[in-house]
Amino acid sequence: MITLVYFEKDSVYQSAREWVLAAGEIIRSTIDDPREVDTKKNANDLVTEMDRKVEAYFAEKIRTTYPDHLILSEEGFGDQVDDLKGTVWIIDPIDGTMNFVHQKRTFAISLAIFHQGIGEIGFIYDVMADIIYEVKKGEGAYKNGQKLAPLTDKKNLSESILMLNHLWCTPNDQVNHQKLGELVRTVRGARSYGSAALEFAYLSEGIVDAYISFHLQPWDYAAGVILYEEVGGQIVQATGEPLTYLKQEPTVAGHPNIVNQIIENYIELK
Ligand code: IPD
Ligand code: CA
Ligand code: CA
Repeated sequence: MITLVYFEKDSVYQSAREWVLAAGEIIRSTIDDPREVDTKKNANDLVTEMDRKVEAYFAEKIRTTYPDHLILSEEGFGDQVDDLKGTVWIIDPIDGTMNFVHQKRTFAISLAIFHQGIGEIGFIYDVMADIIYEVKKGEGAYKNGQKLAPLTDKKNLSESILMLNHLWCTPNDQVNHQKLGELVRTVRGARSYGSAALEFAYLSEGIVDAYISFHLQPWDYAAGVILYEEVGGQIVQATGEPLTYLKQEPTVAGHPNIVNQIIENYIELK
């Protein structure tokens, strides 16, 4: 039996956009307030009262307006989501919490909406810079209203800027460090901005060319994938397999003509 699930893309998009901007305003207007900072899996895995407050805000809005939608999110206000059937909101209330706490900038709200397994809508909101990246699948990716150009130029690795999560060099990472070191020496430059969502936004703008992170959760990458694929970018697991959007995955993203080069020549999972 086929079950038809109604999805009013434009009105869902408008609601989500309004809530993302409103949540951003809550964060921005209280940026200098004292913070309650807790740790999660380790001493550097931070969470604040604001992460929880913003996620609770989205959960309340979504459940009131779209009671049949599901939420996959970081801080515990979401649902148990085992597949992407129906409509699923994938939310990171603050991506880059360490930047939020220590630097008060370079963090983002990341929100993606999947319908029947397809990433249809994405927002990445750089709160302090007030820059919103947004995408409706098939209708273009935008940065503050300006359409992002599709990736065109072929890139050589030697002319590329690579972004890496700094944790790639920690001892318990199951990767060959020497090979990744060779990659860092091959590219023109390496960067680490501390917010996966913004790193995907920068890829989508075409100001950086590749990104490797071995620890991304669906809420870190979901909106970024929709945005980046809209301009022709490629994102896969470090094994070359497609992302699942349901669990932590080692991720390689970049201009399509360098992703395979990176995986084949420089990533060796132990
Ligand atoms: C983290 C940031 C960081 C990435 C980590 C993520 P959080 O998200 O995106 O850049 O390297 O893997 O966990 O914890 O700040 O939401
Ligand atoms: Ca995150
Ligand atoms: Ca987060």
